[in-house]
Amino acid sequence: MKRSEINSIISKAIKFLKKHQFYLPKFAYWSLEDWKGKGEEINEIIDVKLGWDITDYGRGDFYKMGLIHFTIRNGNPNTINQGGKNYCEKIMIMEQVQQIPMHFHSNKMEDIINRGGCSLMVQLYNSNNENKFSNSEITVSIDGELTNLAAGAIIELSPGESITIPPRLFHKFWVKKKNGKILIGEVSRVNDDIGDNFFVEKVSRFPDIEEDTAPKYLLCSDYKKFLNR
Ligand SMILES: [Fe+2]
Repeated sequence: MKRSEINSIISKAIKFLKKHQFYLPKFAYWSLEDWKGKGEEINEIIDVKLGWDITDYGRGDFYKMGLIHFTIRNGNPNTINQGGKNYCEKIMIMEQVQQIPMHFHSNKMEDIINRGGCSLMVQLYNSNNENKFSNSEITVSIDGELTNLAAGAIIELSPGESITIPPRLFHKFWVKKKNGKILIGEVSRVNDDIGDNFFVEKVSRFPDIEEDTAPKYLLCSDYKKFLNR
């Protein structure tokens, strides 16, 4: 992805979030100079990768396969057993005909919440021992109500509705309507994008970035590159 495209996606995302009255913490708006002026007091932000996370999954076609995430809180998988934070919260925006690739998480259990916009479509499969689709029936909790579904079933979440995705349940989601746009919440166990995602297709979790202009905001995957931390 080009840096100019990422800058523009984030600027539009900030407007969309304000329209939905979803307010972000201050570090969402920090410039590169602001980031550089911070020291050890922001170790938590850096260590657990809070902040903007825009991805095209390495496919180079953001509006076909991609997602805007902002991680608001997260724990460190290494300190959970020492009383560390064991939860994560993200806000996401899915646009137009975008979709995310089919995947499961080995450890993370996540609630995906439609927080406003149009309907969110979610397709599900159990996984088998070879990490492939199973034909077995799926049982999931949709807003606290156990629901049995056939393998590969597609459910529709209207604004306000949510689904709990347990570990090893394959899931993929997309926006129902053309020209639709959805504000999606995620409440989960600690998020570890380096080691806990299993994708069916060959994709990369973070984009390759062409630095055609300066970053207006930093992505969580930029902290190493621009702050060396
Ligand atoms: Fe997921």
